[in-house]
Amino acid sequence: MCGIVGVLGQLEVAPRLLDALRRLEYRGYDSAGLTTLENGRPVRRRAVGKLGELVRLVAANPARGTIGIGHTRWATHGAPTVDNAHPHAAGPVHVVHNGIIENYRELRAELAGEGFACSTETDTEVVAQLAARGLARGLSPEQAVAETLSRIEGAFALAFLFENQPDLMIVARHGSPLAIGWGEDEMYVGSDALALSPMTSRITYLEEGDMAVLTRAGARILDRAGNPVSREIRSVSVESTLVDKGRHRHFMAKEIHEQPSAVGRVLARYIGADRSRVVSPAEAVDWSAASRVLLIGCGTASFAAHVAKYWFEQLAGIPCELDIASEFRYREAPLDGREVAIFVSQSGETADTLAALRHVAGRVAATLGIVNVTESSIAREVDTVLPILAGPEIGVASTKAFTCMLATLATTAILAGRVRRRLDAAREAALLGEMLSLPRLMAETLRLETEIAEAAAEIAPARDVLYLGRGRLFPIALEGALKLKEISYIHAEGYASGELKHGPIALIDDGVPVVVTAPSEPLFSKTVSNMQEVLARGARVVLLTDAAGAEAAGSEASIRIVLPNIGPEMAPILYSLPVQLLAYHAALARGTDVDQPRNLAKSVTVE
Ligand code: F6R
Repeated sequence: MCGIVGVLGQLEVAPRLLDALRRLEYRGYDSAGLTTLENGRPVRRRAVGKLGELVRLVAANPARGTIGIGHTRWATHGAPTVDNAHPHAAGPVHVVHNGIIENYRELRAELAGEGFACSTETDTEVVAQLAARGLARGLSPEQAVAETLSRIEGAFALAFLFENQPDLMIVARHGSPLAIGWGEDEMYVGSDALALSPMTSRITYLEEGDMAVLTRAGARILDRAGNPVSREIRSVSVESTLVDKGRHRHFMAKEIHEQPSAVGRVLARYIGADRSRVVSPAEAVDWSAASRVLLIGCGTASFAAHVAKYWFEQLAGIPCELDIASEFRYREAPLDGREVAIFVSQSGETADTLAALRHVAGRVAATLGIVNVTESSIAREVDTVLPILAGPEIGVASTKAFTCMLATLATTAILAGRVRRRLDAAREAALLGEMLSLPRLMAETLRLETEIAEAAAEIAPARDVLYLGRGRLFPIALEGALKLKEISYIHAEGYASGELKHGPIALIDDGVPVVVTAPSEPLFSKTVSNMQEVLARGARVVLLTDAAGAEAAGSEASIRIVLPNIGPEMAPILYSLPVQLLAYHAALARGTDVDQPRNLAKSVTVE
């Protein structure tokens, strides 16, 4: 949700800023901009639309200089226009911002009364105006920024540039991530280490409330009380090539195909060398004393949590509550202090999930973070982090992070089951054996892509699509519908198969395809009846099942996609793949922007 970058370098900075912005574009892509200092004077370029527009603008109207800041935007306040694009400027100050300034209305009114009127619709402009007012009152840039920070409320990561200060950049972090990079007589700043990866692997993550004064010689970091602090410089090995699509047309396709190896990494991390026992930092949790498990996340992460509810209840016998983070934090759920609260988030920065974590911190027995970005706020604030090891996920629609979340959650539930004596050693080994076959079965499933693409061609012209699933496959129906909505803009809904007759069946006609995710299981015959009900009303059914399911369904389904056999517990992980591919190919057929769908951003750091 907005990406920011800054470079104090020795070389022309604009190409470096544009390259870093390309790495950050997944965070927002409705407009982009940069400011450089050319002989001390700010040169600003801003363009609406994808980053390519800014690249063209800078090629036609170069911005020279060796220091600069850049921004890629996901609009929160004000439409995506050139005026609202960052950097924002006031007098000698230029600033880029990721986050939200909550008290911007009051500040705008105050500043306007003093001749520092804002001219854009954004919340960010007040930051530039406040700093400019400080300078006009005789403060140094550092003092002006410190004063500005003391006045603004909300979540922000900021980078400031000042006219006639070619060796100075001031940055601050409060609620939005910010990484400082160290080079040879160069310094960098970015929303994440990935943005800086071609320039340096030496990274310092700022802590909440930190401000840093950067020159080419290094960084002076101050904590929220203004005291100088030293923060660790880590070696972060993010390969610069990681943002390449490889042989794939889209990041989403690449990430879908990475899943066998990504899930393999999870299994290697959380299953011991004997391949029969979970070995996990989650062993630190006292599962036997837990009264309940709270499972919390947003969007796709909440669907991973939803599958985990079945696992924790069935494998570990722990009552679970599943919550969407934005609801949980306000619903005043009574807590008894013995809950284990699990927060699921790819980015680890989702504002609602983070707020939910802060809401329960200290009021439950343990907090656990299932996250991809291990330097994220959620990772740092939970008692125990379980990395999902998916690697950078660039496609805005989450795919490999989802299956890696599932695999991590499954091992955690198995561990809890062992500790609570619901699973004996043999059952634990059997479940893990099933998990260990996942990379192979996932690879086999991906080989069905051509068939799945043909099914997607049937779906692509539809206005509405229904997804049905039962039990652990119900959340996969929800996820399939979300994926389709996000990237193809086709209206889709996921339902528990048993719910069909209680309302959604009214939608069915010959224009509404129904995707049924149903491996063969004891209740499969009920699913076949559900299919008959929709077929009788003219719908086309795409059935995702296994060989036994295909046989039992006979010719009922219009299209059958036969997946490899897998036991019922781990089926949700395998069945995630065809629903991702269906969405991907439906989007291709409709010609939408798969990796950067409209209105979305990867990391939702605002409520
Ligand atoms: C959907 C998607 C979103 C995210 C949600 C939570 O494809 O990516 O629904 O799952 O915004 O994001 P994280 O996992 O970063 O907390």
